Amino acid sequence: MASSRSNTAARAVTSSARRMTRVSSPVVQPGDTYRDRILRGDCVEQLKSLPTASVDLVFADPPYNLQLEGALNRPDQSLVDAVDDDWDKFSSFADYDAFTKAWLTEVQRVMKPNATLWVIGSYHNIFRVGAIMQDLGFWILNDVIWRKANPMPNFRGRRFTNAHETMIWASRNAASKSYTFHYDALKAANEDTQVRSDWYLPLCTGGERLKDSKGSKVHPTQKPEQLLARVILSSSNPGDVILDPFFGTGTTGATAKRLGRHFIGIERDDSYAKAAEARIAKVTPLDDHALALAPTKRSEPRVPFSSVIEAGHIKPGDHLVDSQKRYRALVKADGSLTIGPVSGSIHKIGALVQGLPACNGWSFWHIERSGALQSIDHFRTEIRKTLPQD
Ligand SMILES: C[S@@+](CC[C@H](N)C(=O)[O-])C[C@H]1O[C@@H](n2cnc3c(N)ncnc32)[C@H](O)[C@@H]1O
Repeated sequence: MASSRSNTAARAVTSSARRMTRVSSPVVQPGDTYRDRILRGDCVEQLKSLPTASVDLVFADPPYNLQLEGALNRPDQSLVDAVDDDWDKFSSFADYDAFTKAWLTEVQRVMKPNATLWVIGSYHNIFRVGAIMQDLGFWILNDVIWRKANPMPNFRGRRFTNAHETMIWASRNAASKSYTFHYDALKAANEDTQVRSDWYLPLCTGGERLKDSKGSKVHPTQKPEQLLARVILSSSNPGDVILDPFFGTGTTGATAKRLGRHFIGIERDDSYAKAAEARIAKVTPLDDHALALAPTKRSEPRVPFSSVIEAGHIKPGDHLVDSQKRYRALVKADGSLTIGPVSGSIHKIGALVQGLPACNGWSFWHIERSGALQSIDHFRTEIRKTLPQD
């Protein structure tokens, strides 16, 4: 893959030369929904045709600006299939930055107030992209590392194996607090453990990789659907509109369709856009039952701790302990807990004894039953079962 930067005239192409390779765009009629379509042409121009505040999620896989130094061979002298396409070439960092700022500005405009943006990149471009995002006011929520299970080796043996890409996940601005993030569902599907920001997934290979009639890859950087599925499932809802301004082979569109979301793709290379259309046409969406999120604790009806006492599961005068029996609190008739001179809610007393700013008392406190510890959350679940369902 790439090594150091070089700006030789032979390899560099100017913005105007890049523009010449673009294909003409379809006429987008006012009132078009734009949904589930691939807009052909330059993304900055096409983004301008989209209504303000109209998309729920953006996934962008922009040019890497790889700065390749000539052909790269394996030890057996076979040629490495690196990204050397025109769409990845910029005359200078300034040229790349200007392009990045232009598309990010338009993306920010078309995002709904609580939409979020994912941008994937490598060390060649992600730091520049991240800085420009911050300059434009995007609010970075995470940088997620895609750790590649099967990375390409470093053939020259002069560097570490480049085994990951970085995804920056950001909200539209610092004030966008109500963005979609399915924290509980992700945790439930992950052995009840918070999902971490490093994702171990293979490259796109095998049957998923689009090949032409000669068996060559249709696109040099087709992303794995598993990666897009994690992005889409974590930060969007069924029915949402997901924009991808660098659509390539349509990995975002194919995954969005399978997961019951809409997509808007933008791609300037007609052959990629056609491959994407054919790919997406073959996708069958999962049915609603398969897509419905399991009810999460946050979406379930609120149950005050006093209801557990009213229902007789725990009595005033009982004692609650933490899972390691380090702390012991007295249950009072009004549903509060007492330790020494201090009284408060299950959450407040749980936080206090641990010296933490906050605590989920439902998972922290337990009661001894038949020689074993029972989480008090068990009783909340029992009470919820008795509540009327919507
Ligand atoms: C890194 S690839 C995206 C690959 C895609 N995620 C996939 O899974 O197939 C970037 C794509 O953006 C397209 N592209 C580059 N510059 C563009 C521009 N200014 N406007 C629209 N598309 C562009 C390229 O043709 C290329 O297909």
